[in-house]
Amino acid sequence: MIRGRFLTLEGIEGAGKSTSLEFIQQLLRSAAIPHLVTREPGGTVLGEALREIMLRADRTNICADSELLMMFAARAQHLAERIRPALDEGMWVVCDRFTDATYAYQGGGRGIPDERIGILENWVQGALRPDLTLLFDIPVDQGLARAGRRSVPDRFEREKREFFERVRRHYLVAAAREPGRIRVIDGAHTPGQVQDAIRAILQEFLP
Ligand code: TMP
Repeated sequence: MIRGRFLTLEGIEGAGKSTSLEFIQQLLRSAAIPHLVTREPGGTVLGEALREIMLRADRTNICADSELLMMFAARAQHLAERIRPALDEGMWVVCDRFTDATYAYQGGGRGIPDERIGILENWVQGALRPDLTLLFDIPVDQGLARAGRRSVPDRFEREKREFFERVRRHYLVAAAREPGRIRVIDGAHTPGQVQDAIRAILQEFLP
C-alpha cells in the first residue's frame, strides 16, 4: 500500500483557507482520490474539546506554554487516531492547519523560540511532515476585515494587529526556507485566480 499524501492549509485569519478547502475537496473527488478532510486544533473528541478551551474568548488566562502544549496534545491524539491511520490506508489527508501554525502563532505570535517547538514537533510527529502546504497569504488588515465580518472574534482573533503581523511574517519566512513544500498563494487575488493557482499546484501532486 502506498502511503497517502499529507496536505496542509495555512494562513492568517481571513486569508481564504476555508473556501479553498472546499475547492480542494472537489478536485480530489473528481480525481477519485480517497481523502480525509480534517482540522487543527480538532479532528478528534479530545482535540475538539481542547479547541473549545483554547478558542473561547473569555479564557484569557492561558499562558503561552500551556497553549503550546495543548496544541501538541491535540495533535498527538489527531495523529494517533486519524491522520496516521488514514495515510497508512493510502488516503490523502487534507488538514486545515498543522504545525506550521504552531511556529507562526505560538512562535511568531507569542514569542516561543522555534527550537522549543521543534522539540515537540520531533517528539509528537517523529519524521512525519506534510508533503505539501498551501500558505494563503494576505495583508493583515484585509484578512482581519474579512474574518471580522464572519463571526464573533475568538481568543486568537481578539489579538492585536501586531500579533498577526508577526504570525504572517513567520509564515512567510518558513515558506522562504522551504519553498518546495510550502507554496504561497495570494489570498487577495480573485476567487478564480486562487482556484487556478491551487489547481496548478495540485496537478503536480496528483497521480
Ligand atoms: P481556525 O479558526 O483557522 O480553525 O484556527 C483556529 C485558531 O487556532 C487560529 O486562530 C490559529 C490557532 N492555532 C494556533 O495558534 N496554533 C496551532 O498550532 C493551530 C493548529 C492553530
